[in-house]
This record gives sequence, C-alpha cells and structure tokens, in this order.
Amino acid sequence: MSNAANNDKNLGTALITGASTGIGATYADRLARRGYDLVLVARDAQRLEQVAERLRKETSVKIEILPADLVNKADLLKVEQRLRTDTSITMLVNNAGMSIAGELADGDIDKYDAMIQLNITAVMRLAAAVAPGFIQRKGGTLINLASVLALAPEMFNGAYSGTKAFVLNLTQSLQNELGKHGVRVQAVLPGATRTEIWERSGSDIDAFPDAMVMSVDDLVNAALTGLDLGEQVTIPPLPDVGQWEALTAARQAMGPNLSLKNPADRYTK
Ligand SMILES: NC(=O)c1ccc[n+]([C@@H]2O[C@H](COP(=O)([O-])OP(=O)(O)OC[C@H]3O[C@@H](n4cnc5c(N)ncnc54)[C@H](OP(=O)(O)O)[C@@H]3O)[C@@H](O)[C@H]2O)c1
Repeated sequence: MSNAANNDKNLGTALITGASTGIGATYADRLARRGYDLVLVARDAQRLEQVAERLRKETSVKIEILPADLVNKADLLKVEQRLRTDTSITMLVNNAGMSIAGELADGDIDKYDAMIQLNITAVMRLAAAVAPGFIQRKGGTLINLASVLALAPEMFNGAYSGTKAFVLNLTQSLQNELGKHGVRVQAVLPGATRTEIWERSGSDIDAFPDAMVMSVDDLVNAALTGLDLGEQVTIPPLPDVGQWEALTAARQAMGPNLSLKNPADRYTK
C-alpha cells in the first residue's frame, strides 16, 4: 500500500521504543500507514531491520533503525540525545517494557532491577528528553504504554504492576505539564494482549480464557482510535468507560481531604 498521499501531510517522525515485535512493531505499522516517518528502537537490530524493510516496501515513509538497550545507560543517552536534537520528531511511543512472572521473594532481584530501569527510568528519561522540544514547537504527541495492572495490583506481582502505576501517574501528571503547551499525552492500558512478553516473562498466555486475550492488532487499532478521540487514558478492553470516569471522580473527590492539619477522628480516640 502506498502512503504518498499521507506523506503530503508532513506528520513528522515518530520514535517508537520496543519496535522489533509485539505492540511496538504494530504501532510502527499503523503509524507508517498514517504517514509518519519512523525511528525504530529496540535491542535486536536484525528484527528491527526486518520490520523497517517490510514497511519501506509497503509504504513510502522514511524509516531508520536505532538499536539500543534501554537498560544500558550509554544506549539510553544515545536515544535521549536523538529526542533532544531531532526537530522532526513529533511523536514518542514509550512502549518498550518487560514483565516478570512469580513472587518477589522467589525472584532474581537483578532482573527486577532491570525491569525498573526499562519500565520506569527509560520511560521517564525519554519523556523528559522529548518534552522541551515539544514545548518549544508547541505540539507533539507522547504515548506511554502502561497496563490495566496499574489499576489492579492484586492481579499480578506488585513490582511489575507498580512500574505500570508509575507510568500512569507520570502520564497523568505530564498531561498537566505539557497539555497547556499544545502537546497530546496519552496513557494506554492494555489488558492481556497476545505478544511475546508472556513467553519472555515465563508465563503462558494460553492459560487465560480466550475471551480475556486481545490480539495485538485490535489493541493498537483501539489505542490509536482513543488517541484520535482525544482520550488521555485509553483502556481498550473496558466496555463501560463510565467505570473509569467513576474511579477518577472518586479519587478527585478525596482531593480536598488528603492533606489536613488534624488526623481523622478514627485515629484520635
Ligand atoms: N502484551 C501484554 O499483555 C501487555 C499488557 C499490558 C501492557 N503491556 C506493555 O506493552 C508494552 C509492549 O509490550 P509487548 O507485549 O509488545 O512486549 P514484547 O512483545 O515482549 O515486546 C517488547 C519490546 O520491547 C523491546 N525491549 C525489551 N527489552 C528492551 C531493552 N532492554 N531495551 C530496548 N528495547 C527492549 C523488545 O525488543 P528487543 O528484545 O529486540 O530489545 C520488543 O521490541 C510493554 O511496556 C508492556 O509492559 C503489554
């Protein structure tokens, strides 16, 4: 499929992390077809090149690969530098992430540490790197991949779900910081989605009932529809968006009572 018409729109460049497979590779596909030039980041240069090669044949956008291990500080700085200096960048998809199955007490703590570097530190640093340019240029789009587990710590180990709660929190805060400068900021909260992350983390996606597992195509299509609708938080599987709105309203209703001079009565008896 040619995207010559789309290119006329000059949408700029989207930098996507974790673009060698799964959700990131699917964003690469959809964004190329929308007419974005791409910079694709992940560790596996060969797989990145395969994604890039296919999309170069199927679209007419410019695609560059930028291999980097985002847990490695020098590599992370290289990607940050690109985000800070490339004024053609109009979108960052902060997608690379890893998960670990099992309980904290039984786990390899260094692996957990690496997960926090990837799911938290890299996401924050890359957002911080792209933000000044977006503010200066009065526009841009930041998409951060969180997870429904940000809302459901009881469903999985707290270290992983905690990284995703961080991403949701950071994203909601950045909506205040960047929204006023014309920057779009979206958190995407997938439920179980059929990708390699399950096998990589030592879990079996087929242990879930089929009705709980979304295809990666449906997930990314829904997430981009949410973006087009102007959603700040997109939860592709959630049938009733009113439930999310009710949670937000309940949280915000507590706001005025979350910092007061006196302890609550129940603590002073
Ligand atoms: N699939 C789900 O059920 C699900 C649900 C909720 C949220 N999510 C979130 O969605 C995002 C994408 O997940 P996915 O399911 O597409 O996972 P995936 O299929 O395992 O893909 C992960 C991507 O991240 C890259 N990556 C991993 N470690 C990296 C590192 N150290 N440096 C740079 N890139 C790295 C991988 O490429 P290389 O191996 O080539 O580096 C790959 O491109 C993650 O943030 C995940 O937490 C997924």
